[in-house]
Amino acid sequence: MKKSEYTFSYEVYDSIDDLTEEDAWLLNEAREVTEHAYAPYSHFQVGAVAKMMNGEIVAGSNQENASFPVGLCAERVLLASASSLYPKMPIESIAVSYQSDNVESDHPITPCGICRQTLQEFENRVGHPVRLILGGMQGKVFVIPQASALLPLAFTSEELK
Ligand code: THU
Repeated sequence: MKKSEYTFSYEVYDSIDDLTEEDAWLLNEAREVTEHAYAPYSHFQVGAVAKMMNGEIVAGSNQENASFPVGLCAERVLLASASSLYPKMPIESIAVSYQSDNVESDHPITPCGICRQTLQEFENRVGHPVRLILGGMQGKVFVIPQASALLPLAFTSEELK
């Protein structure tokens, strides 16, 4: 028997004020895009904004449905838009923020499991890491250099070949 270990590193900033100008701009865009969410059931509005490698900016927000499982997270709305508008174009960074009637938006949220799986396949498909900038309307900000680091031992397309 051999024990394996998995670790990854990410950056923690005290606030948006400590980010580079470019990252702070993207996170502010994500904060604004929370307004576009359709979240009448959870009242948890999420905004995601990507800077693509070609310089284009693409946004997504969560889109819920009365049939709850039909709802889409902001991250997957964004990835579907990005792939449709600019096929095979890598994403440099995605900023994610949120606001809610029910909870304070004072710390970062991280992508759900389905979004981690989708981000991992996006990275593999275009052959480039997706950097994540995660922060609420205030408070600490996480910068994660590679989204797939959030999904160790992932099931990938390689298994189907
Ligand atoms: N949600 C996102 O859009 N992104 C996340 O990273 C976490 C959760 C959405 C899904 C649902 O519409 C609402 O937030 C509450 O879970």
